[in-house]
Amino acid sequence: MLEPEALDHLAPDDPVAQRSRRDLRRVNAFMGARGILERALTRALGDTAARPLRVLELGCGDGRLMLGVAQHRGTRWPSVQLDLLDRQPIVDAATIAAYAAAGWQARPMVADVLDWAAASGDGEHWDLVVANLFLHHFEGEALRRVLGGCVSRASALAACEPRRSRFALAASHLIFFLGANAVTRRDGVLSVRAGFVGAELSEAWPGGPGAWRLDEYDEGLFTHCLCASRVGATS
Ligand SMILES: C[S@@+](CC[C@H](N)C(=O)[O-])C[C@H]1O[C@@H](n2cnc3c(N)ncnc32)[C@H](O)[C@@H]1O
Repeated sequence: MLEPEALDHLAPDDPVAQRSRRDLRRVNAFMGARGILERALTRALGDTAARPLRVLELGCGDGRLMLGVAQHRGTRWPSVQLDLLDRQPIVDAATIAAYAAAGWQARPMVADVLDWAAASGDGEHWDLVVANLFLHHFEGEALRRVLGGCVSRASALAACEPRRSRFALAASHLIFFLGANAVTRRDGVLSVRAGFVGAELSEAWPGGPGAWRLDEYDEGLFTHCLCASRVGATS
């Protein structure tokens, strides 16, 4: 049974939440999240990265992690239209402007992911869905619904999640060394407990692999990834 993370229930303008989101940036930097995510994107997309891309990030938080990807990728992905979905309105105008400076056209979308997943009849489609530290907020039927949204609305998925290991759990108790506040410290431990191992994400893929190529692996010390591509979409 998942225990809810505190940050999800704090108002966006609560100073404790704002501090915790800054902590999250340090945690991502410590975990090497940008590089891990970039490699997952390349794995999920294959050759499709040569043409203009429509990308959606689920549970984007403040949108700063993908901004790092945009600034690093720059002209290697000539035209990216990025939708940044989160339940909370926390992507600010300065972040959107920074995307524009990096050559990406970004737009915040304030929505619950389960509503997004259920709205598959609206005709919207993305080349790639991205998620970082997000899928572990869901289990069972809710996780299958989120993944089902990707199956019906996207050509590829790159997800980087906490790895549920003893080592990661021990490390999650030490994030006060990164200056994290009480919310981040508690949520960090809950995230690892809710994380994934082995083929758990592939096994939750609705209908099994079928027309999808699923690639689930560990990277670094703390991260567990799923890259999924619709067969035929990347060549
Ligand atoms: C641990 S944070 C990760 C943020 C960002 N991906 C990162 O790596 O910095 C999880 C994010 O998911 C969002 N979230 C949680 N449940 C959600 C839901 N049902 N629909 C949309 N967003 C949700 C939270 O608001 C939060 O910003």
